[in-house]
Amino acid sequence: MILSIESSCDDSSVAITSTETGELLFHKKISQEAQHREYGGVVPELASRLHAVHLPQILEHVTEYLPRLKAVAVTTHPGLSVTLLEGIAMAKAVSIALDLPLISINHLQAHIFSLFIDKPVIDPMLVLLISGGHTQIIEFKKQRMNLLATTLDDSVGESFDKVAKMLDLGYPGGPVVERYAKEGDPQAFAFPVPLSGSPKLAFSLSGLKNAVRLQIEQTPDAKADICASFQEAVKKHLLQKSKKIFKTNPINDVAIVGGASANQTIREAYEQLCAQFGKTLHLADLQYCSDNAAMVGRLAVEKYKRGEFSKLEEIDANAKAG
Ligand code: KG4
Ligand code: ZN
Repeated sequence: MILSIESSCDDSSVAITSTETGELLFHKKISQEAQHREYGGVVPELASRLHAVHLPQILEHVTEYLPRLKAVAVTTHPGLSVTLLEGIAMAKAVSIALDLPLISINHLQAHIFSLFIDKPVIDPMLVLLISGGHTQIIEFKKQRMNLLATTLDDSVGESFDKVAKMLDLGYPGGPVVERYAKEGDPQAFAFPVPLSGSPKLAFSLSGLKNAVRLQIEQTPDAKADICASFQEAVKKHLLQKSKKIFKTNPINDVAIVGGASANQTIREAYEQLCAQFGKTLHLADLQYCSDNAAMVGRLAVEKYKRGEFSKLEEIDANAKAG
């Protein structure tokens, strides 16, 4: 079995996965959303201190598995370095105490493996990764990630968080903006669809965020309509750029992963786009869209089988890599 640890942002999570079957045997996550809410976003120092409390608490639940462990996997990059280091410190401690090899996990690749929890790996695949830190289209092929498009500024999740903050709706913004959008009219405000006139294979969310800010100044009470119209523009933006790639890329299996992939409007729109192109859409279980150690463990099983271990001194929080 593999013990996996995730602490790249504000979720403390630990999982146990079978190395033989890839089956998820244990998974627990403690989210810090409530503690960060009053600041309207994640405060790294606070997140790090909370990981130092929560990670050992979860570890206490897995003591029965410890004698059967074959490796310890931990998210090392990308993420907030002060929070990554908490998971890394615990992984190193367990590795030394039980004399187990360490497996270093790329957080973005782990999000792709959220699709394969208790399921076989699909490879190749075209993946739209939309999270709090990233907005990318990745060609996942032979277990490697080839970046086809990325954001020039904010990420999708970040833009939902910022809109929620401007409307005073709390943190995290994604779920609450989606909830308000359900009550609003997506055509109420014609927000500009980013880069729609540009042939660039890239994303950009900061201009849209500014357009939303100006609208809030004019109609501060139209929260539901603003949320719906903002979400509509994000959806159109993701579809326009994905379409460009779908036109030329023959890979048939497509997926959306990351925290913002829980968004129902984006899911449904992507479902239609895939149907239009004869592609098959794969989605992770809602509970595995946001950060979790189950996806870390699933990727770790593949790395374990290939013997991809890291030495203790090689493991460090490489915040920007990935
Ligand atoms: O993947 P994740 O848990 O953490 C990172 O790796 O960043 O993603 C968190 C992000 C947050 O910005 C959150 O607002 C966004 O995902 N999110 C959503 C939804 N649920 C979470 N964004 C849009 N719609 C949602 N339903
Ligand atoms: Zn993430």
